[in-house]
Amino acid sequence: MLTRRDFFKTAGWGAAVASVSLPSDLLAWTEPSRAAQPGGPILLNSNENAYGPFPSVLALSNPFDGVNRYPDHHSDLVTERLAALHKLPQDCIVTGCGSTEILRIAANAFLGPGKKLIMAAPTFEAIEHYASVVNADVIKVPLAANFAHDLGAMLRAAGPDTGLVYICNPNNPTANLTPRKDLEDFISRLPKNTYVLIDEAYHDFVGPQPDYVSFIERPLDDNRVIVARTFSKIYGLAGMRMGYGVAAKQTTAQLRRQKLEDSLNIFVMRCGLTSLDDSAAHQQAQQRNAADRDQFMKQAAARKLKPIPSSTNFIMMESGRPVRSVIAHFSKNNIAVGRPFPPMDTCVRISLGTPEQMKEFWRVWDMLG
Ligand SMILES: Cc1ncc(COP(=O)(O)O)c(C=O)c1O
Repeated sequence: MLTRRDFFKTAGWGAAVASVSLPSDLLAWTEPSRAAQPGGPILLNSNENAYGPFPSVLALSNPFDGVNRYPDHHSDLVTERLAALHKLPQDCIVTGCGSTEILRIAANAFLGPGKKLIMAAPTFEAIEHYASVVNADVIKVPLAANFAHDLGAMLRAAGPDTGLVYICNPNNPTANLTPRKDLEDFISRLPKNTYVLIDEAYHDFVGPQPDYVSFIERPLDDNRVIVARTFSKIYGLAGMRMGYGVAAKQTTAQLRRQKLEDSLNIFVMRCGLTSLDDSAAHQQAQQRNAADRDQFMKQAAARKLKPIPSSTNFIMMESGRPVRSVIAHFSKNNIAVGRPFPPMDTCVRISLGTPEQMKEFWRVWDMLG
């Protein structure tokens, strides 16, 4: 198991890393700047949506209308809309400045000194940062051999001081699923005071899978379960920052207490609401991602590569060489791929780009030799 300190060596938190003055060779391997520059690298490194927001969002005629007012009315509209979408009472919804805010407020609500967070390794690390900020201990449990969460080992690590367990499903960076029935069994065996945050950031890309059902679409009757969703992936709004959490009323009330008042602005909420109303674009985005993913798998198979089966908009793949050399090769050729994810030191994470971008990706891949 990894300790909390390993986070600063491995995670993509440039600011956190900078503040502990790591040597420059380690700094060089943190997440590169995520800003797209004209003529800059092809960005296949942050699991963003390469196609941008839905056309209906881009066509909004006056997105700034009313921004001289505080956003209460739009906040109410978003909560109502999400509650209707999921057929839940409004007091089961908490919105956030990206789903990252949901991760942060869950850490604030359920962790603190003497409390433990249990999470997988490797997984999406943001919550580790927020746990350490509130002086909780972090226990990192390596993924199982099939890259699913090792729920048996996570259960053995849990005790009365475990405030929160973080489950990323599908998991970032491995792109795969942990089976629903195993998760249900796991949750039922956790200590009664341990909350579980299920991060479904990539839910919309899963497609029909026998082992997967969202914990929003088929909830457990359990106050301890919180589900996080984002507008950064399928809706292409990563730069706008909008996400939400779904939980039982009393849990949502605990989460809401930790929120920054008005952390979502009118502009982003207008874009979010327009996206939610555009089910045709949503379906098209799902189909396009599935086609892009299939195409990637075909190209990989043609090269006898064996990516981990992906339920997301990115792929984790064995490269057969130190991943740092792969990253450097792509960087020299103007493509940013995912950073290293120890201990998977020979695997590379590739976010799906447009067909033209992926054509360039494979051209550069083939130059690896
Ligand atoms: C699993 C997971 N959760 C959350 C996030 C952050 O999402 P947001 O942009 O909504 O903060 C990411 C971003 O890549 C992610 O991979």
